[in-house]
Amino acid sequence: MKSTKDKIILLRKKIFYYAYLYYTLDAPLISDYEYDELMKQLQELEQKNKNLLIPIANSSPTNIVGSINHPELKTVTHLTSMLSLDNAFNREDYLKFEKKIYKLSGIINSIELCCELKIDGLALSLLYKQGKLKYAITRGDGKVGENVTVNAMTIKSIPLILNGENIPPVLEIRGEVFMKKYDFIKMNTYAKNYKDKLFSNSRNAAAGSLRQKDSTISAQRNLMFCAYGYNIVNGIEDSTTHLEKLNKIKNWGIPISNHTVLCNSSQEVFSYFNKIKHHRILLDFNIDGIVVKVNSIKIQNLLGNSSRYPRWAIAFKFKSIEKVTKLLNVDFQVGRTGVITPIARLKPIEISGVKISNVSLYNKNEIKKIGLCIGDYVTVSRVGDVIPKIINVISSSHISRSNSKKIIFPKDCPICHSLIIQKSKLGNSYCSGGFKCLAQCQQSLNHFFSKKGFNIKGLGPKMINKLIDFDYISTPVDVFRLKIKQLIILKDVGLHSANNLLKEIDRSRHIKLNQLIYALGIVGIGEVTAKLLSMYFNDIHRIMEVQLWDLKKISGIGPILANNIIMFFNDKRNNKFIKCLLNHIHIIN
Ligand code: IVH
Repeated sequence: MKSTKDKIILLRKKIFYYAYLYYTLDAPLISDYEYDELMKQLQELEQKNKNLLIPIANSSPTNIVGSINHPELKTVTHLTSMLSLDNAFNREDYLKFEKKIYKLSGIINSIELCCELKIDGLALSLLYKQGKLKYAITRGDGKVGENVTVNAMTIKSIPLILNGENIPPVLEIRGEVFMKKYDFIKMNTYAKNYKDKLFSNSRNAAAGSLRQKDSTISAQRNLMFCAYGYNIVNGIEDSTTHLEKLNKIKNWGIPISNHTVLCNSSQEVFSYFNKIKHHRILLDFNIDGIVVKVNSIKIQNLLGNSSRYPRWAIAFKFKSIEKVTKLLNVDFQVGRTGVITPIARLKPIEISGVKISNVSLYNKNEIKKIGLCIGDYVTVSRVGDVIPKIINVISSSHISRSNSKKIIFPKDCPICHSLIIQKSKLGNSYCSGGFKCLAQCQQSLNHFFSKKGFNIKGLGPKMINKLIDFDYISTPVDVFRLKIKQLIILKDVGLHSANNLLKEIDRSRHIKLNQLIYALGIVGIGEVTAKLLSMYFNDIHRIMEVQLWDLKKISGIGPILANNIIMFFNDKRNNKFIKCLLNHIHIIN
């Protein structure tokens, strides 16, 4: 015999499912009459058993217009890319952005700017077809995101059906899902009492809640949604300004922020920034800065996008919390490309719930700029609330620097003892050992065979280290020459796993061009640019002979990346390596 609570839960699930078929798939399984009957039954049961349901009161279809969606699709491709925002951390950064928009657009009159709050949550794309919500998708890698439709449908501010007129047939609404400060505290207090998982901040809480497997739990979390833009798919945008677009969103029934203002100069932007900075404590949700967007759609289109950011918008971030600690030592790490990175070892401190004891000092110039010595007291903050950074050295009459020791940059690589060289004035130093340097060799091989590269299952860092230790491999080509008799004598490798690894290696010989380009590990060429290059040239030999003017034509590849690409393929060692590799692999479409 089922308990009343179980009956209610089962009924809720049923209704959510039928609503999903109706609203999302346009394929109702039961008649409207039967649906209404189920809803009535549920309402009656809930009415009579209010006390039973306190913790799950919000998660009923009787509260939410709509329904559950079964995640038969784990990921969904965005119809238009979901870009992120470039950041400005101070006035100078912001002024550089302004200068750039004037320069790139060629506009001499003042460009109108739309300033908004930068809500600290997670980005969500809502795909509406003929005005009905089809999918809610997280940003993911900007191309493909996670399908969170079921859970998003439980957010009251996300309508299942849009209001009003002139709704584009296929529309992607973009906005932020977030949790109010009060709900976050309430949720964590509840979790503490019930020894449940605690979230370190409201952003993580919102993300965790949106990704719940059980949508009734998401529903209890009282998530909010605020839209900041949209894209029409296969249609024409007739709004002339961003503000006009925001008003359209509002008329369609989706909330937008009411803190948005238009500015006509950097002075006006700075005063908005300061006003919001002081006002943020009074807001009932967290923000981490403001977003400044070119208001005119025509100028937005003139400026276009880079591969990751629109050139017409910038996130102007608030400074994060700063703390003081002691610099205990500096070590030097060797990266995949041979770059030597000084790492500050600090007396551990906590900033916004995260313990910090190691901080990158980037390069020689950075150490010089800060005037840093071992033993100094330093101010540390988290750039963009994420990356820890030493801001400055504390020098006051109370703190003596007499015991501080100068940081000596090594002349030889700490791993392979090859000479360290400086390639440019930017301050970066490199180990000249190439693949002879164990650190470079290990990391290059890891990168080469990683998921986005050759993607060989069973060839992770541990296995790669074993193969290096046995002198079986020192370059990626060696992996394609491995024999079973070599593998079975390795520790913890049986005949079965050795065979599997060889099968995987053989499978990986058929590789897509973009994955091959990624695997090469050209400085600054990640997944997105590798795809861009492969789409543009479609042939590894053409890429190997590429000239600067060819690269200049590609939007999304700036002068620094172009230079890295040219330098990489001009290097005779790289050329020889690729030619040799091509004897072992086959490039597929
Ligand atoms: S515009 C192409 N506007 O900040 C436009 N983003 O750090 C891209 N965000 O991924 C986004 N408030 O999740 C925009 N008013 C706002 C925003 C906002 C918060 C988030 C968004 C984005 C992230 C970038």
